[in-house]
Amino acid sequence: MGIKHSNLQYYFAFSFVGLLALRYFNNTYFSIPNYIALSLCSSHDHPNPVASLYPMNATGTLNGTVAIIPISLALARQLIPPQYGILEHAYRALLPSFPQGMYPAVVQALHDHEVQAFGYKIPDFSRTGVEFPFVDMLNDNQTSFKWAPSLLMTSNHDIALKGAMDYGTTTFAAKFEPSCDAYRHVPNATDPGTTFFSAISSDPGAASLSTLFSPTEESPFPLSFFQNFTNQPTFADGKTCDNMIRFFNTSATTSRGIEVVKGTVRAHIPPFDAPHEWKGVYGLRMGTAFVENNYLPCENFRGYDGWESR
Ligand SMILES: *[C@@H]1O[C@H](CO)[C@@H](O)[C@H](O)[C@H]1NC(C)=O
Ligand SMILES: *[C@@H]1O[C@H](CO)[C@@H](O)[C@H](O)[C@H]1NC(C)=O
Ligand SMILES: *[C@@H]1O[C@H](CO)[C@@H](O)[C@H](O)[C@H]1NC(C)=O
Ligand SMILES: *[C@@H]1O[C@H](CO)[C@@H](O)[C@H](O)[C@H]1NC(C)=O
Ligand SMILES: *[C@@H]1O[C@H](CO)[C@@H](O)[C@H](O)[C@H]1NC(C)=O
Ligand SMILES: *[C@@H]1O[C@H](CO)[C@@H](O)[C@H](O)[C@H]1NC(C)=O
Repeated sequence: MGIKHSNLQYYFAFSFVGLLALRYFNNTYFSIPNYIALSLCSSHDHPNPVASLYPMNATGTLNGTVAIIPISLALARQLIPPQYGILEHAYRALLPSFPQGMYPAVVQALHDHEVQAFGYKIPDFSRTGVEFPFVDMLNDNQTSFKWAPSLLMTSNHDIALKGAMDYGTTTFAAKFEPSCDAYRHVPNATDPGTTFFSAISSDPGAASLSTLFSPTEESPFPLSFFQNFTNQPTFADGKTCDNMIRFFNTSATTSRGIEVVKGTVRAHIPPFDAPHEWKGVYGLRMGTAFVENNYLPCENFRGYDGWESR
């Protein structure tokens, strides 16, 4: 991984202390109005390249890391609500060599940038959580949905928080580090490409997620696999579905390219009932533009096979 374990421990501790200091500072000395705190955010993210193409739709860019966490199928079966099947044949069709008895859970650690519709832009925000793709929510043994039951999300961002809660998502208002970007380089890391990201719920001890990733040569998972599951209609309580269409071919992706990374994810977030650490997980670090169609009947997606086939 190109980074010593002691460094890794140090860095997780460091970013945690940084967050505590920040909270102390904010509470004690200042009371910064939310709108100012949010507008102080100045991001290094690529601008939204699709806003003018789809002015009447919600669009934006997502920058960050998407990683695959192999968990046992037995655990996935315990975590995913029992009324929904798991489309093992669907992920095996894409990943024939995925280990037997295992299931690909997903971590997304993202910064949403220049999110807008009808010319109205909302402030940037961050979000992260563990998601469960290839879920048979219509019980048709065919259409893959992604179950995203919980999220840590930028505190005070009422629009984003409410937007997630309206899906029935268990939403934790959180402080992110870095607060206005997708990730930040770890100073003095053995591999200069090493980056971190961390989120801690404002409600102390309720939830947290942090990542540490370094570039690596190759991934066992092809890009097509990431394209497939990131574009599955997503739900939380199952009452409505979110159709996020992520593009991998706009300047948001091509300007910086797609980096294969490997690293560590630590998460304390439902539906896991205890903190977990996963090491040696593979992911992609990239920017993507998106169009998002919200609060649709999930039934609309029976047989859905990507945006182009609609
Ligand atoms: C993603 O965020 C990183 C860290 O801020 C930045 O260096 C990079 O340019 C961003 N990439 C895109 C495509 O926005
Ligand atoms: C944009 O929004 C319209 C109306 O909701 C929808 O019919 C259309 O499919 C959306 N476009 C894309 C690319 O999703
Ligand atoms: C996603 O993968 C499944 C195979 O498991 C395939 O049937 C489907 O067409 C793919 N969808 C897209 C949009 O690539
Ligand atoms: C679901 O579809 C797969 C692939 O077509 C098939 O192998 C499997 O038997 C089906 N399962 C059920 C319960 O029908
Ligand atoms: C990084 O290296 C510089 C110069 O070698 C040193 O001053 C600094 O304390 C180091 N920072 C960390 C976080 O180790
Ligand atoms: C980019 O990808 C989208 C769907 O993923 C496709 O509809 C569009 O034609 C592609 N654009 C280019 C320029 O290839």
